[in-house]
Amino acid sequence: MISSSDIFITRSDIIILAVESSCDDTCAAVCKNGKILSNIIATQEVHKQYGGVVPELASRAHIQNIVPVVDAALHKAGIQSKDVDGFAYTHSPGLIGSLLVGSQFIKSMALAFDKPLMEVHHMQAHVLANLIADQKPAFPFLCLTVSGGHTQIVLCSAPLTMEVVGQTLDDAAGEAFDKTAKILGLPYPGGPLIDKYAKKGDPLRYHFPEPSITGLDFSFSGLKTAILYFIQNEVRQNPSFIKDNLPDICASVQERIISILLNKLSAAAKKNNISEVCIAGGVSANSRLRQAFQELGRHQHWNTYMPPFEYCTDNAGMIAITAYYKFLENQFASLDSSPSARATW
Ligand code: KG4
Ligand code: ZN
Repeated sequence: MISSSDIFITRSDIIILAVESSCDDTCAAVCKNGKILSNIIATQEVHKQYGGVVPELASRAHIQNIVPVVDAALHKAGIQSKDVDGFAYTHSPGLIGSLLVGSQFIKSMALAFDKPLMEVHHMQAHVLANLIADQKPAFPFLCLTVSGGHTQIVLCSAPLTMEVVGQTLDDAAGEAFDKTAKILGLPYPGGPLIDKYAKKGDPLRYHFPEPSITGLDFSFSGLKTAILYFIQNEVRQNPSFIKDNLPDICASVQERIISILLNKLSAAAKKNNISEVCIAGGVSANSRLRQAFQELGRHQHWNTYMPPFEYCTDNAGMIAITAYYKFLENQFASLDSSPSARATW
């Protein structure tokens, strides 16, 4: 019997099914010839009550979610498992129990359908989320990748050729958002809430220090300590300080985090003489960062790119697009390969 999806599949089509399960989102996506057909994300709500991701609970939730999420991705794409040409999973970095769920699931599918397997580095995939939209950066480009666990400036000279030219020496930018939110009594993950409250606040009301780190590396731990001491001191004098001034605090903290990020990105662009510049990762969903990045780009005469919202935070679309380029270059993995919690960059 011929299914409706068969009608549109020609011999040259390359269909990839990808899963992403590195942390607390269970994600699956289908891409055909580099175009994303479906991108399903199941966010695990169970962690909210604990103020952070609980690894054991994340693994268990992935086990519950993975079959329905993959089914939904295939269904939305109008693709059957037998039509998939290659299967991809996030190999590293992440929570090992979470990574194992996605890797075992996708390896089983590759084995059952006798199709190639591709392993994808989560941070490389965040960078290549910029190749999903029709308007793509030209190579070489620079990407500021800002997530919950990483802050990097990456020089990307071909889809699978990347070099980290700057990175955080301690906390990631996403952690700076999340830890500030925790100090303010906001639930996890705090980044989107700080973004929301900051919209009504004055970014110049409070001044937080910019770390004096030379070169292209970042540091956010000093800023976190400065915020903690500032809030503790103010609350001692006025117990309702946070409640009375939440939008201004959020806007001022956010402005400082963004200025630290964009100052380093400017220096990296100048040093590498590059005017194709992208942002990526969960923090690139921040509305003020997106606006400030575009303003900076206009000022510096850059061509600027940022992934659509659904491809900023963790998603399998970015894994699928990276796997598509791996497929084109015959970069396949063995069924014996294992995921790794640490970044094997
Ligand atoms: O890339 P991602 O989804 O997961 C990791 O690979 O870590 O990034 C998650 C991070 C969290 O720290 C979250 O607070 C932050 O991205 N984030 C935001 C926003 N949306 C997500 N930070 C600031 N503003 C946002 N709108
Ligand atoms: Zn991520």
